Amino acid sequence: MKLTRYLIVALGFCLVPVAMAQAPAPAAQTPIIDFGSRFLPTVARQGMVVGPEELAAEVGLDVLRAGGNAVDAAVATGFALAVSYPRAGNLGGGGFMLLHLADEDRQTLIDYRETAPAAATRDLFLNENGAVDQQRAYFSHKSAGVPGTVAGLILAQQRYGTLPLADVMAPAIALARDGFAVSFALNQEIAARAERLAMNPEARRLFLDAQGRVPEIGSRWQQPDLAWTLTQIAEHGQKGFYEGEVARRILAEMQAGEGLISAADLAGYRAVEREPVRGTYQQYEIISTPPPSSGGIHIIQILNILEGYDLQAMGHNSAAYIHHLTEAMKLAYADRSRYLADPDFEPVPVAELTDKAYAERQRALIKPGRATPSEEIAPGKVLVDASHDTTHYTVADRFGNVVSNTYTLNFSFGSHIAVPGTGMLLNNEMADFAANPGQPNPFGLVEGEANRIEGGKRPLSSMSPTMVFRDGKPWLATGSPGGSLIITSVLQTALNAMAFDMNIATASAEPRVHHQWQPDKLVVEQGISPDTLALLRALGHNVDVAGRTLGRTQSIMLDRGYLWGATDTRRPGGHVAGY
Ligand code: GLY
Repeated sequence: MKLTRYLIVALGFCLVPVAMAQAPAPAAQTPIIDFGSRFLPTVARQGMVVGPEELAAEVGLDVLRAGGNAVDAAVATGFALAVSYPRAGNLGGGGFMLLHLADEDRQTLIDYRETAPAAATRDLFLNENGAVDQQRAYFSHKSAGVPGTVAGLILAQQRYGTLPLADVMAPAIALARDGFAVSFALNQEIAARAERLAMNPEARRLFLDAQGRVPEIGSRWQQPDLAWTLTQIAEHGQKGFYEGEVARRILAEMQAGEGLISAADLAGYRAVEREPVRGTYQQYEIISTPPPSSGGIHIIQILNILEGYDLQAMGHNSAAYIHHLTEAMKLAYADRSRYLADPDFEPVPVAELTDKAYAERQRALIKPGRATPSEEIAPGKVLVDASHDTTHYTVADRFGNVVSNTYTLNFSFGSHIAVPGTGMLLNNEMADFAANPGQPNPFGLVEGEANRIEGGKRPLSSMSPTMVFRDGKPWLATGSPGGSLIITSVLQTALNAMAFDMNIATASAEPRVHHQWQPDKLVVEQGISPDTLALLRALGHNVDVAGRTLGRTQSIMLDRGYLWGATDTRRPGGHVAGY
């Protein structure tokens, strides 16, 4: 396997010689691919998994090699990340999985977003002064929504996988039971949250040693409780998690910590299939995540607005380009604050928001020579969260299936509360509701009444697993973590490829910008020229050069008979596994 991996990486640099060494000379001349770029994708032919962590990506690749399809590999990777990438891989969270099913030439979306417990009410996180109690909203048992991940992965497996659930879960169980060597990335991820993890006795026991130290790089890290929980699921399916002994342990912890999740909430949880949202940008079709995520709608809305400009003529990351991009982002995020919520509770005007005529009216509001202050922008007639944490991976198989999956505990390590005896962290996804509708949240985001807390409702998300089709075929699949940054990260990765002809590694690596309407701040990554920033400031933009990175995409481009993978280099540990 190691040799193959080396060859795959090497392929990016010497595609033709390696291909010729492996196969007899083709009758037709092998076309020479001119990368013309500082950043090169990793290349494979048959199957690929691109994700935030190497062991889990390789688990997915092993499933592909063993004859599984992309769904089998995605489910295997999802369970493996719960073991090897605990900051965001999870059993206790939720997410969205976008699938392209080659046989049926059809796309579908599995919504396994958490739901609010039935007992949750509108003012759950308000204190006696009417202000949001941040400790309760983010780090208490009440911040946990009813987990959706296990139901979502099982639904995907049962409907669209080809291998038995126990087979695709076996590698995750082995990883948890036998352990693995702690990587630099895992060491750093735990270190960054060690103080908070230490506040919960079970999380402390799981992630720190008896002296409260972070596991050392290279030390073996085993998770027997998590192996037990995974085994319950592998043996008993959905009931093995939502009923029975695992559920009993979750409920005991809820009782101990005054949480709201009940036995009925767990037993009643259902992942659901939804129609993805669709739009176009020039000759490309965009297929993405519908409500209760805001992501797909706003990616399409922003693309619709930008379609009216000649972006290539402006130049990538020029002041003119960033200005128009930013103005379109502000308009979209203003709409997000009013219209977006769980569609099972609130009507969401999907068709109107993604309509080209609406985009034309919005485009007319953009002034080419002046940034419109956010206070002058209102939701159109017809939020954000901070960079929480979440993770994304993308899978493609040799049958033509593609899976783009984003899932999360919300913050890195969720609420930092672990359920004793399960090895599992609780999410703090309830914080994605509008805790105080109409008021800015602690990150300056304004969230609307439509996203108020209600029992059984799914909190509004920004998760945006997305695919771009060209000539009716999947061409690009991507997604990102980062709360509200997800939408703009996915948008810019796709735009870089579609409007600026970048290969997927370059499209992923180029510096990103972000504006979310409120607060009125244009956040830019390092790497945009100071001259450009000066021009943007002169236009009236409140430019803030971020001390951190924006998003972390995991992408596959399917082009000219190859799979081109790119794991975002913004954080350590990402991996492209292909064969
Ligand atoms: N928890 C981040 C999101 O769903 O957007």
